[in-house]
Amino acid sequence: MIPLEFWVALFAALVNGIPELDRMWFKVSFGLLVLLLAYRFWVAVAAPIVTSHNFVEHGGGATKRVAGKTPPPYPNGWFCVLYQWELTPGSVKTIQFMGKELVAFRGKETGVVSVLDAYCPHLGANLGISGRVKGDCLECPFHGWRYDGSGQCAHIPSQATIPAQAHTRAWPVLERNQMILVWYHVDETPPTWMPDVIDEVHSKAMRFDAKSDYLVQAHVQEIPENTADVAHLNVLHHLPWNIPIVEDHFRVDWQGWWRPGDENDPHCAHVPVTQALVLFGKQIPYMHMTTQIHLIGPGLVLYLFETPVGRMRLFETVTPAGPLLQKVSLVMFSKSWTIRWLTKWFYRGVAKTLSQDCWIWNNKTYYDKPTFSKGDRYLLTFRKWYSQFWSERSISMRDASRSGTLEW
Ligand code: FES
Ligand SMILES: [Fe+2]
Repeated sequence: MIPLEFWVALFAALVNGIPELDRMWFKVSFGLLVLLLAYRFWVAVAAPIVTSHNFVEHGGGATKRVAGKTPPPYPNGWFCVLYQWELTPGSVKTIQFMGKELVAFRGKETGVVSVLDAYCPHLGANLGISGRVKGDCLECPFHGWRYDGSGQCAHIPSQATIPAQAHTRAWPVLERNQMILVWYHVDETPPTWMPDVIDEVHSKAMRFDAKSDYLVQAHVQEIPENTADVAHLNVLHHLPWNIPIVEDHFRVDWQGWWRPGDENDPHCAHVPVTQALVLFGKQIPYMHMTTQIHLIGPGLVLYLFETPVGRMRLFETVTPAGPLLQKVSLVMFSKSWTIRWLTKWFYRGVAKTLSQDCWIWNNKTYYDKPTFSKGDRYLLTFRKWYSQFWSERSISMRDASRSGTLEW
């Protein structure tokens, strides 16, 4: 598509070439051109990156994965459903979460975030579709019943009494590290652990630089399992060229060590990863980086990069929308003094590697007992660690896949 700047510049040149025309036309079009170029420059250099990618539209093998010993689809734990800036006071958002429809809203008076089952107990309207925040309550768009943050109906227009059943489920919510997290447990037990506060993100000392959302058909476990799959790093995430001689002698060398948390943080795992540029079998001086990866529960993978241009943090979160449908989000924070153009350049590289993973996840099947080789030792450790997030009554993949919901 030809950019708008081209047409404005063409118009300016044309009106400038017609002596009879008022000079005002030239001045206006030239001014517009300068503004457009300034805007493009700001987007390229200074504005955060915000993108979304729907891999489901590109096919996938979700239906091929239902049979067999696929683990339960909904692990117990904290999951990121939104980031704080996506839910300003008075705003309402729908959320697909563990095969359910939820609604999130932020009160206008207290600024507190609440997450409720989305369907109104009165006649079933979706509170997230045209629902409005009134004070600290959410008003149903159909007949105006209002629900507070606990899910209790607090007001019915023109009625003094409120039926005892006028109550919708409220989910445990936590605002931490700029994320809005919702706790899921199949038995509805309260949270048994809390994600650590990362001061520099929680206090907003670090700057938000980029966010990308990905919708992927995959089992939730496959996404964090990537951190234990060291063997794929040197193959899938190779340098972006494919020239045989160059590829053989100039590459990125990845190493990783996957370690589950101890008795103080059994819901966590820690993975230092090193990357080095290697030329003719020799590591190039200064061209290496160590990344600390922390898994917190079943759906939060937090990266810490110490790069030559400053410290950066990357949050990769996965939240099951349905049995084999994952919303994966990638968010980057950096020190406020770092040049944003550089952090965005770095982010684009990281986001590209996630897209490479998404292509694999979106089309692969799940093996309960894969053919492991010696280099896959961390995968076994990971799967044992991840199994703590299922419990006796966890919904099976088979039951979740035929939950009785109808698309209509
Ligand atoms: S359906 Fe919500 S108030 Fe009637
Ligand atoms: Fe990967």
